[in-house]
Amino acid sequence: MEVVIVPDAAAGGELIATAIADLLTRKPDALLGVATGSTPLPIYTALAAKVRSGAVDAARARICQLDEYVGLPAGHPESYRSVVLREVVEPLGLGESSFLGPDGNAADITAACEAYDQALADTGGVDLQLLGIGTDGHIGFNEPCSSLASRTRIKTLTEQTRIDNARFFDDDIDRVPHHVITQGIGTILDARHLVLLATGAGKAEAVAATVEGPVSALVPASALQLHRHATVVVDEAAAAHLKLADYFRATYAAKPHWQGL
Ligand code: GLP
Repeated sequence: MEVVIVPDAAAGGELIATAIADLLTRKPDALLGVATGSTPLPIYTALAAKVRSGAVDAARARICQLDEYVGLPAGHPESYRSVVLREVVEPLGLGESSFLGPDGNAADITAACEAYDQALADTGGVDLQLLGIGTDGHIGFNEPCSSLASRTRIKTLTEQTRIDNARFFDDDIDRVPHHVITQGIGTILDARHLVLLATGAGKAEAVAATVEGPVSALVPASALQLHRHATVVVDEAAAAHLKLADYFRATYAAKPHWQGL
């Protein structure tokens, strides 16, 4: 696992957007797995700017979703499908045909989860999966004690995650769905490159447990330790509890430029 400590969220967004641009240059039809929440927004802003300036051509890129609420009405502005279309797909100049996501309104949710896992495999797999992290260490919506081998499935949110996400629902926790569909941890680990961005002091404890703690279902993000190409990008505030912060800084400062992320 590589840990990169950046000064702030904007620097993290720029660094990761550059890595995505490099990927699209090497593989124009790359499948990019995207995350929701506030943290990855600087990545999408920086990437869209690169597309507008002509620094990268994303016309053949494909975008897929990490997770979704169950039961929000189709077109609800806070469904993750709506968020990804609004924050990623449209700013990159792509259309819905470039987008893949699970159906949070399916009559048969189990079948929809299996179909999504299969659809991801049928595309040839995710080239780069962006991840945020919950304050409890969740990735996607894999809450603590999710199986590290799990596939896309329905999960029940913890009270803490519903409190954290209430800000997207007019601060009304009663409007935050209890159930979600999420790529499983095993599904996430199938991606060729995992890039987790965490910013702010509120994520410092979860980041330390992810990077330096034991691999444990209690901290779902710690499964990144099992992946052979996982990159964790953190700002100074989110790095505050890392014991090896100086080593991570020195390693990145001495990194050969040609390696990229
Ligand atoms: C939700 C999403 C996660 C995201 C997390 C953190 O739970 N399902 O993918 O990482 O929120 O969001 P934020 O970046 O806003 O803190």
